[in-house]
Amino acid sequence: MRPRVVVTKDIGKEPLARLAKHAEVVLLPPEWTAVELIHHLQTSEALLCNVTDTIDKALLRACPGLRMISNYGVGINHIDIACAREQQIIVTNTPGVLTEATADLTWALLLDVSRRVSEGDRLVREGKWAGWEPLFMLGREVSGKCLGIIGMGRIGQAVAQRAKGFRMPVIYHSRRRLPEEREKELGAQYVDLEQCLSEADYVSIHCPYTPETYHLIGAFELERMKPTAFLVNTARGPIVDETALIKALKDGRIAGAALDVYEDEPYVPMELRQLEQVVLAPHLGSATEETRLAMADMAVNHLIAYFQGETPPNVVC
Ligand code: DGY
Repeated sequence: MRPRVVVTKDIGKEPLARLAKHAEVVLLPPEWTAVELIHHLQTSEALLCNVTDTIDKALLRACPGLRMISNYGVGINHIDIACAREQQIIVTNTPGVLTEATADLTWALLLDVSRRVSEGDRLVREGKWAGWEPLFMLGREVSGKCLGIIGMGRIGQAVAQRAKGFRMPVIYHSRRRLPEEREKELGAQYVDLEQCLSEADYVSIHCPYTPETYHLIGAFELERMKPTAFLVNTARGPIVDETALIKALKDGRIAGAALDVYEDEPYVPMELRQLEQVVLAPHLGSATEETRLAMADMAVNHLIAYFQGETPPNVVC
């Protein structure tokens, strides 16, 4: 009998056609419910899911026949990994292929919020631009300023690399310190979290979301930042206490924020949406044609390896 794999979202014709050569593919309709997902998973041995799917204990317990989860994405905070491990389910993710796209977007947001690009775009579209003025819409210079990176994994390093072009000193805080050689290459200096927050003109978050990093940036941490500094988050929403961030922005505790991720996506608090000094992107970090295709290929390759009796690469548990 051919193995069955449930796919929660369309990831493109070609990768799915390749997958269909190795298994029966059940592509769920766009508005599926948890009950439907469980129903299909109860007769399937594999799942191809993504960041928007909650793969929790209740679901995993209800699907004892599930043997493999291929996550289309690098973040795995939406999967109960401990439970998957207990049930001996293989979980894979797609690291590496989205590094450059996410680093690019981080810089797009950083530049945008600092130079008020989206704010200016709104103004032009609304017909409110009255012409060039010496003191009109002044932003802050990016070049030469200090970039603080929290989480110096692949994406953090790719962001640091790009800072060279802007002649920016880089300081970083991370679970693991980089080898000295790599620090030199990136021109990055390891500091504690407090120093990173208090010295940086831009604080950019790139750590994974885990129980330890939940609300890593809250009122206390925002208080440590310079009033002229900006916060950029392209990692995961719950790493930042959104309520504390809104308050810090309203009180002028920090100059602005550029966000690609939110605590309860796709919900974005109205208070955040009303602030001009905030750039809001709809979780676009990996959203390029090239990267999404690479993610799809990788997620499908992991499943094919599994169906062929091999251990797939990028196993997280
Ligand atoms: C990931 O891979 O975790 C990204 O957030 C998806 O874009």
